[in-house]
This record gives sequence, C-alpha cells and structure tokens, in this order.
Amino acid sequence: MTLNAAPTDLTGKVAFVTGAVGGIGASAVAHFAALGAKVYATDIADSFDGSATYRAFNLLDDKGLNACRDWIGEVKPDIFFNNAAIFDMGTVLEADLAQYDRLFGVNVRAFYAVMQAAAQSMVAHGQHGSIINMASQAGHRGEALVAHYCATKAAVISYTQSAALALAPHKIRVNAISPGVIDTPMWKDVDALFAKFENKPLGQKKREVGEVVPLGYMGAPDDVARAAVFLASDQSAYMTAQTLGVDGGNVLR
Ligand SMILES: NC(=O)c1ccc[n+]([C@@H]2O[C@H](COP(=O)([O-])OP(=O)(O)OC[C@H]3O[C@@H](n4cnc5c(N)ncnc54)[C@H](O)[C@@H]3O)[C@@H](O)[C@H]2O)c1
Repeated sequence: MTLNAAPTDLTGKVAFVTGAVGGIGASAVAHFAALGAKVYATDIADSFDGSATYRAFNLLDDKGLNACRDWIGEVKPDIFFNNAAIFDMGTVLEADLAQYDRLFGVNVRAFYAVMQAAAQSMVAHGQHGSIINMASQAGHRGEALVAHYCATKAAVISYTQSAALALAPHKIRVNAISPGVIDTPMWKDVDALFAKFENKPLGQKKREVGEVVPLGYMGAPDDVARAAVFLASDQSAYMTAQTLGVDGGNVLR
C-alpha cells in the first residue's frame, strides 16, 4: 500500500495574516514562517516584530481597508488567515449602535472585504488556496452580556459556509476556527470588562473561564496557530465550509 502522506510543509506558499500583532496572529505568523511560507502581515500598529513583511492598516477606515485590499491583490496569497477583530460588551439594553458599528465594522465588514480580496486574487491567478476565518465559541450561541460580539462571530461562520460553497468550483477551501478562551492580549480587556459588568476583582473572570474548560485551562495562541497550520496545509485537503473548535471541550457540536 502506498501511503499518500500530505505534508504540513508550506514551502513555496504565500501566507497573509491580519491582526498579526495580536496573540493568535503573531503565533500564526511564526508557525507559517517556520513551515516555509513567505508571510505578509498587517495590523493597526505601526510596527511588527516577527518573520513577515509588514504593513500597518486601520481596517475600520475605508482608506486603510482599500489599501489593504490592494496589497492582498499584489501579494497573491495562497493562505489567507483572516484574524483581526475587536471585542466589547453590553446587553441588548445598553449595547448601542456606536458599539455595533465598531464591532461589525472590523469583525464583519472589514473581515468580509479582505476575504473577498483574497478570494478574487486566488481565482484570478488560479490558486487552489486556503482561507481561514477567525470565528469564536461566541459565534455558536448568544451571551447576555456580549450581544454584538457574538453576532459578529455568528456572521463569520455563515460567511465561511457561503464563501466555501461559492469557491469550491475554483478548488479554494474556506474554513473557520472557533477558539474558546485563549490567553492573549485581548483577554486583558475582556477580563476588565467582565470585572466591570459582573462586579468582580480584576483577574477573577480570567481564572474562572480557565477552570471551567473541560481540559481545565485556557488555551495558548500556539494551540490555535497549529489548527491554522492544519487548515492551511494539504493535511486538510478534503475539508471546506467547516468551523473547527479549538476550545478544550467548551462547545459540543
Ligand atoms: N483570545 C480569545 O480568547 C479568543 C477567543 C475566540 C476568538 N478569538 C478571536 O481570535 C482572533 C485573534 O484574537 P486575539 O485573542 O489574538 O486578540 P488580540 O487583541 O491579541 O489580536 C487582535 C488583533 O486585531 C487587530 N485589530 C483590531 N482592530 C483593528 C483594525 N481596526 N485594523 C487593523 N487591525 C485591527 C488588533 O490590533 C490586534 O492586534 C480575533 O478574531 C478574536 O475575536 C479570540
């Protein structure tokens, strides 16, 4: 029997990562680069310390968003890690339209616009690429205190399915990752918001969410980056339109 082992080697591939300065984004850049990909990275911060060609864009601003879309067209990525997002909290009684515009502006509008640019580039150049969208366990069910963010991540899951079906004839795969609770810089803000909304001391919410994970602890950025490598590589050649949970058992699908 011949074993047709599909390698995770990404030599010769071009990868593009958004939200690259953040916890998960920076880890994904490091993993893609270590496996041989040429990596292009973007975030809102002026500079980036990692193995990638970096440009700063504010995806909430149409000038930045369009410039980022143009750069994606120039770079012609085979792997597109659509990862940038912001978090905020509020129930339907208080989460206003300003919060809606910010969260949907980055997590859905910009997310969609850059995914479209990557898809158009892959189709134009006949690349059988892999698009990996960043969803969340928050996209699989609502939360009383997290109305808008949960809705943005549900939208990511839906766009992943629609994009996968539209791009399948072009042999472009589109999948999403739904992390659970991952110890990144985002959690400093999340913890502080829960401290305010649930009247808890700083640090308590972060401890609690780790303890209730079935595996017993918060994930690390590398846990998510390894799933991104799997979805980027030929190891997942027959997977598309899926959302992969990386959550220590938090959400049962
Ligand atoms: N950390 C978690 O527990 C967790 C859980 C589920 C899903 N996620 C998702 O994983 C992804 C990465 O999150 P993370 O935890 O690494 O967070 P993070 O805050 O460390 O990284 C997110 C990055 O997105 C960038 N970004 C935000 N707004 C931007 C804008 N307007 N223009 C350009 N860049 C912008 C930020 O600057 C930041 O570097 C996000 O999509 C997040 O929703 C995280």
